[in-house]
Amino acid sequence: MGKSKNIILIGMMGTGKSTVAEMLSRELGYPLIDVDAAVEQKEGCTIPELFSDKGEAYFRDVENRMLCSVLEKDAQVIATGGGVVLRPDNCEAMSANGWVVALTADPEVIVERVSGCENRPLLAGNAEERIRMIMEERKDAYRFAHYTVDTTALSAAEVTRLILAHYRV
Ligand code: S3P
Repeated sequence: MGKSKNIILIGMMGTGKSTVAEMLSRELGYPLIDVDAAVEQKEGCTIPELFSDKGEAYFRDVENRMLCSVLEKDAQVIATGGGVVLRPDNCEAMSANGWVVALTADPEVIVERVSGCENRPLLAGNAEERIRMIMEERKDAYRFAHYTVDTTALSAAEVTRLILAHYRV
């Protein structure tokens, strides 16, 4: 692994990307970049507001531009939104500019982890049904990752340790 390569976390909502990214950033001393948070800051509103005011396609355009600009630098821990993989050019850019780690989890665990969160517009309504549907739609979308961790039975600290052990070899 080239030293100071970006670590880019991808995966469904609720797989622990944000928490693990924070831990990795602390361990490595790399800045933490959360693409969703950067989009919210740039647009001056929350993601649910962006979806309802301007629509998902607009959000995906801003997300794409933000990702590309973040990927211009090295030595960062980058947490992405679950849908970033929907655009093939995003996947190519991530593969070319970092070490891509996919976090996965069983749907039951994802449902448990996201329940009560109001900040995910794609889960409005029956969250469990929506999660199962989105997971089916995206079942192959995260496979291009260089490394995958099933987080179902692991704590965020355990996931972080595994990722660091593979990053440092
Ligand atoms: C989305 C996931 C969200 C956020 C937006 C869309 C998705 O990020 O980008 O609500 O399409 O899966 P998290 O994966 O951090 O929840």
